[in-house]
Amino acid sequence: MGDQVPLGARPAAGDRVLSGKRVVLGVCGGIAAYKAVEVCRRLGDAGAIVSPVLTRSATRFVGPLTFSALAAEPARTSLFGSEEVGAGSGAPAPAVPAARSAIPHVELGRNADAVVVVPATARLIGSYAAGISSDLLSSVLLATRAPVLLCPAMHTEMWEHPAVQDNLTLLRRRGVHVLDPAEGRLAGGDYGKGRLREPEEVVAALEAVLVDESSGTAGTVSSRADAGGTLRGVRAVVSAGGTREPLDPVRYIGNRSSGKQGYAIATELQARGAQVVLVTSSPLEPPAGVEVVGVETAAEMAEAVLGAAAGADVVVMAAAVADYRPSAPAPVKLKKSGAPVRLELVPTLDILAELGAHKRPGQVVVGFAAETATGDQLVELGRGKLESKGADLVVANDVSADGASFGSDRSAAVIVSRGSLTDLGVSDKRAVASKLVDAITDLLGAAGVPAPKKGANA
Ligand code: CTP
Repeated sequence: MGDQVPLGARPAAGDRVLSGKRVVLGVCGGIAAYKAVEVCRRLGDAGAIVSPVLTRSATRFVGPLTFSALAAEPARTSLFGSEEVGAGSGAPAPAVPAARSAIPHVELGRNADAVVVVPATARLIGSYAAGISSDLLSSVLLATRAPVLLCPAMHTEMWEHPAVQDNLTLLRRRGVHVLDPAEGRLAGGDYGKGRLREPEEVVAALEAVLVDESSGTAGTVSSRADAGGTLRGVRAVVSAGGTREPLDPVRYIGNRSSGKQGYAIATELQARGAQVVLVTSSPLEPPAGVEVVGVETAAEMAEAVLGAAAGADVVVMAAAVADYRPSAPAPVKLKKSGAPVRLELVPTLDILAELGAHKRPGQVVVGFAAETATGDQLVELGRGKLESKGADLVVANDVSADGASFGSDRSAAVIVSRGSLTDLGVSDKRAVASKLVDAITDLLGAAGVPAPKKGANA
């Protein structure tokens, strides 16, 4: 899943994470391309079966023959299979010869255990984000389902350009790993952020990505809270934000929910390795690596949540779903007449109750209860909702507590289940998310939902 890759993160000594792994080493045209030669050598030394793929402009900076001499596979520069450069004499020799087909991008992409691009230029990042295959490297990136690590290098102005940053955000969201460049000397004597990371940092980051994606067998290497991925293979759906029920094309009935709590829960679940679908009506920037479904009304939220819940192990209804909607929204903008207006509101589907009523065995359903109550009364209201909606956990929170109102970063919450009660007091929403995901993990374990599931969401 997409992440900011940490520096210096390296599996414990003795782990040969790269040994026998097929790694496509993409090289783009940039002054930093010379460092890719050293990356190639180090990957080979670590036991990887390296297939170098150079863009046309990369060949203006570094020779494909150099890569062929260092790598197990010959360097490739073209979409057309015949254009291999050199023999690929570097160690180790692959047990199974790599693709030498007429469609090398598909073969390379399909056979790869990882793809690393060193350096990744703004152009490559742009075409990858847009899904454009203009040469062999961009085609391999689209054809592969293996983890991808981009190591950008460019001038600071280009690195900071919103187009580049937006493309990287999009790619991270899709699960692509990015090793941010360092600050330092750049081409032309300039100084700033945009300098390619050192070869040993690139190799360490690739090892970290492979460990993280495979099942967390080699120690703490991830920037995630829980690199071991205790929830790896678990599929979760989280709803967030307040729904909007249209009165006419311009106006709606809404509520003050910010979506922050749902986003914190989605982030926490994803951080522990779960595969997360976030159904949201909030304008907040979603966490990297989660699948986002944007909705507006309670009906849209019901459709998206119930659809995704069918295959989910965990469903968390953190959204403030409207209980009622206008029965007949006007198709055109309503004009004022000065006379009182009567609105007819009709109930919406109670999504949580629906989930509770049709829960699959082992599925954990979580609800929220936003109340203006404290102490025992808050707990009672939470317990009542647990029963009435058939949920396994309810987070009851007092929205009238000081510093814990709607939109705030804090919440006054208790987590109630059938057998337990955890009073969190006034806490940061991320802390609430963490405690809630602990409780979810316990219930999943008790229900025998296999966690971790090795590599299930790699
Ligand atoms: N919920 C839902 N579908 C709705 C309404 C609410 O799934 N149509 C979920 C919310 O996401 C939340 C929980 O139900 O998890 C909140 O319960 P709800 O009964 O709506 O709470 P209140 O609106 O506070 O209801 P009441 O005023 O009856 O306490």
